[in-house]
Amino acid sequence: MLAKLDQIEQDALEALAPLTTEEQLEAWRVANLGRSSPLMVVFTHLGQLSKEERPAIGRRANEVKGELEAALNAKNEVLQSDALQRALETERLDVTLPGRELPVGRLHIVTQTLREIARVFGDMGFQIYRSRDVEYDEYNFQLLNFPPNHPARDMQDSFYIEGSVDPDNPILLRTHTSPGQIHAMREITAQYPHDPPPIRIILPGMCYRYEQISARSEVQFTQVEGLAVGHSITFSDLKGTLSDFARRMFGQSVRSRFRASHFPFTEPSAEMDIECFVCGGEGCSVCKQTGWLELLGCGMVHPTVLLNGGYDPHKYTGYAFGMGPERAALLRHRIEDIRYFWSNDLRFLEQF
Ligand code: PHE
Repeated sequence: MLAKLDQIEQDALEALAPLTTEEQLEAWRVANLGRSSPLMVVFTHLGQLSKEERPAIGRRANEVKGELEAALNAKNEVLQSDALQRALETERLDVTLPGRELPVGRLHIVTQTLREIARVFGDMGFQIYRSRDVEYDEYNFQLLNFPPNHPARDMQDSFYIEGSVDPDNPILLRTHTSPGQIHAMREITAQYPHDPPPIRIILPGMCYRYEQISARSEVQFTQVEGLAVGHSITFSDLKGTLSDFARRMFGQSVRSRFRASHFPFTEPSAEMDIECFVCGGEGCSVCKQTGWLELLGCGMVHPTVLLNGGYDPHKYTGYAFGMGPERAALLRHRIEDIRYFWSNDLRFLEQF
């Protein structure tokens, strides 16, 4: 009987050695330690042995059982660590491989310029006022002192919306940000009709003109309007603020000049030039040999416009200005064609 147990042990260990999978181990466990395995059969037959034989056989059978179980556990561990090793090798992450680059977006050059302008005016105490893109003729023209058929309208050919209800007050895409002046003033004077507080705002936004598209003109472009209304605001406030703006925006040494001009909604009106920052005023192709670059239109708010906004022109004065950020960016970066701004060509946009 003892020899038989030796044989059982030897056979089982031999069968275990070459196994390589978990399923094989399980089959081996059933065959060698399961209820009907030769070893277990020995246990069930212990009772039939003589009293003298029983203890030795029993002890040996337990020993074999312990050894087989230990061998199974050891084998299991080996298999598991082999599997881990294999997984580590085959599923290894090569962290030295460069990752796939994600395309990173950026702000449009005009947005960057707008933010720069807003920051400079923000530092000077101006708030941002947003106004609508779609306007009534009344706001875009009439309240700004452009009566119907006024020749100044010829400068701003417009996109009218079909099916406007009132033929005397058609709906159009705003041709400039100036109608926002009326909206802003009216919003404040509606709240404080007797003693409206002063205003210091900029009004950025898209404008639309029915133009022949060329390197110099587009049908859509942004403008930044400015409006200051208060007691005893004078033309020197306008000059000082805008000259300071030009220095903060284009460099401390930039000089500016004002030329008389005309806008129906400002009186007096002016255009402001800054010294050409490409040639420093010497004259070059960017400034067309003049040494100056035209930057914006401006003037003192016309009394009728103040009145249309609800401000009493006997008590209040103000100034307004309007500039094109595309133009500023165009000059700054020497961009040759204004059509690049809205044609969505990444080769252009990625340069800024
Ligand atoms: N709205 C004018 C334009 O589009 C610019 C301007 C604004 C001029 C405010 C004076 C004051 O040309």
